[in-house]
Amino acid sequence: MNREHNWTKITAVANIPPQEGRSVTVGEVELAIFNLHDRFVTIENRCPHKGGPLCDGIVSGTSVVCPLHGWRFDLDSGAAVRASLPACVTVFPTRVEEGIILVDPSAGRRITSEEAAA
Ligand code: FES
Repeated sequence: MNREHNWTKITAVANIPPQEGRSVTVGEVELAIFNLHDRFVTIENRCPHKGGPLCDGIVSGTSVVCPLHGWRFDLDSGAAVRASLPACVTVFPTRVEEGIILVDPSAGRRITSEEAAA
């Protein structure tokens, strides 16, 4: 499906240091945006386990570890890293333009359990 993105300006890239995350609420969506050195990625901020703030998690490679109980999520797909966990989080399109991070909060995508198992 071809659709126009609804890009929303979030913040300057300098406001999110490498290997760290920040939360921002856009409309009714609470996002966690991470700096992975070479790019920025955005997921929903709420851990599907018990609602932990994923923006405060430890970033390791391209995954984040929830600060409450240690579930780990891939920041590109949103899938829980351990195959035994069916949970996943929504991932949002993210790009940088002229030093500003832009996110489309209306185009979040959550992989299916079949995709996660593949
Ligand atoms: S709330 Fe995230 S692992 Fe428990």
